[in-house]
Amino acid sequence: MRLSDCHNFSDFRRMAQRRLPGPIFNYIDGAADDEVTYRRNTESFESCDLVPNVLRGVGEVDMSVTVMGQKLAMPFYCSPTALQRLFHHQGERAVARASAKYGTMFGVSSLGTVSLEEARKISSSPQVYQFYFHRDRGLNRAMMQRARDVGVEVMMLTVDSITGGNRERDKRTGFAIPFKLNLAGMLQFALKPAWAINYFTHEGFKLPQLDEHVDMGGGTMSISRYFTEMLDPSMTWDDVADMVRQWPGPFCLKGIMSVEDAKRAVEIGCSGIVLSNHGGRQLDGSRAAFDQLAEIVDAVGDRIDVIMDGGVQRGTHVLKALSLGAKAVGVGRYYLFPLAAAGQPGVERALEQMRVEIERGMKLMGCTTIGQLSRENLRFR
Ligand SMILES: Cc1cc2nc3c(=O)[nH]c(=O)nc-3n(C[C@H](O)[C@H](O)[C@H](O)COP(=O)(O)O)c2cc1C
Repeated sequence: MRLSDCHNFSDFRRMAQRRLPGPIFNYIDGAADDEVTYRRNTESFESCDLVPNVLRGVGEVDMSVTVMGQKLAMPFYCSPTALQRLFHHQGERAVARASAKYGTMFGVSSLGTVSLEEARKISSSPQVYQFYFHRDRGLNRAMMQRARDVGVEVMMLTVDSITGGNRERDKRTGFAIPFKLNLAGMLQFALKPAWAINYFTHEGFKLPQLDEHVDMGGGTMSISRYFTEMLDPSMTWDDVADMVRQWPGPFCLKGIMSVEDAKRAVEIGCSGIVLSNHGGRQLDGSRAAFDQLAEIVDAVGDRIDVIMDGGVQRGTHVLKALSLGAKAVGVGRYYLFPLAAAGQPGVERALEQMRVEIERGMKLMGCTTIGQLSRENLRFR
């Protein structure tokens, strides 16, 4: 299978599955418990249909949006995800370059495998730093200062991961950092020697956002111990309000789902909220962001930028979310499978396909700007 055979999400997913050892593929593809929320995320877009207008002169289409003060050439961005160099040796570098080429925002995870500094040098696109809240407040301040020095535009605090989700696929394969593979897991690696050669002939595994503070790469601290020992489950709204005050730019909470929380995010001065269930990887049974979107937009959409992610695989999914009132849409696996399949050319191809789908969709909907999309264009079944 070649990159030119990939025309949609499923094709990229299949190509990634062929290249990756099973435990790594399942780490990306998997979600929590019975994966009900994961499935619903994409299905939720089928609960409504688009109602197009015609004969509106759609020769030129402008799909740019401004979200949290950042101008994006396209209304979707690459949501922060962990461990990207494990999927392909180019990792975050590929995603930063592809995002720059397409003029969109990209996130670097706290568990990213390329440093904030390097990502900043690679890309002039708006850069998000995805942050977890540590017990050690000094550490939080130091990490925020570092992001500030680097010139990160948007601080994004993930609030849906106060404890790890129950990812049973990872338990079955023994996927963990550092690797703790069981026999079956090891066999899966042996079956994909090309991945192993690629991985072991490039620079070693590192988590540069954390390495200064936690000895993760060296193997003494596992990611699951990082979550249980270093992150603070007693974090409250007051703690976050302090962080918002300290950060000079736009501050965004990722993983808000309730109207009550959305209102509190407004009260403490956040610029944006991302409705998200972490791609179904945390609380299984939680609502899909798209199902919850209208309720949140109605409550706070005039006071804060409402963004959503989860299950987005098509340009029409993006158009439906924007029609309901989202300011932009995040994608995760949509670019991770292409990254795993083919590195930077894979991510670029995926971004280009989404761009083309949105442009085509807008023309067929009779829209020349994103502002023309509204709930008039949508009917729920
Ligand atoms: C492999 C993987 C790793 C992720 N790592 C992080 C992370 O480190 N921090 C974070 O806030 N979200 C993380 N996410 C969640 C994404 O940012 C995003 O919310 C989610 O992938 C959206 O769902 P989608 O994959 O269906 O597009 C991760 C998702 C995946 C699939």
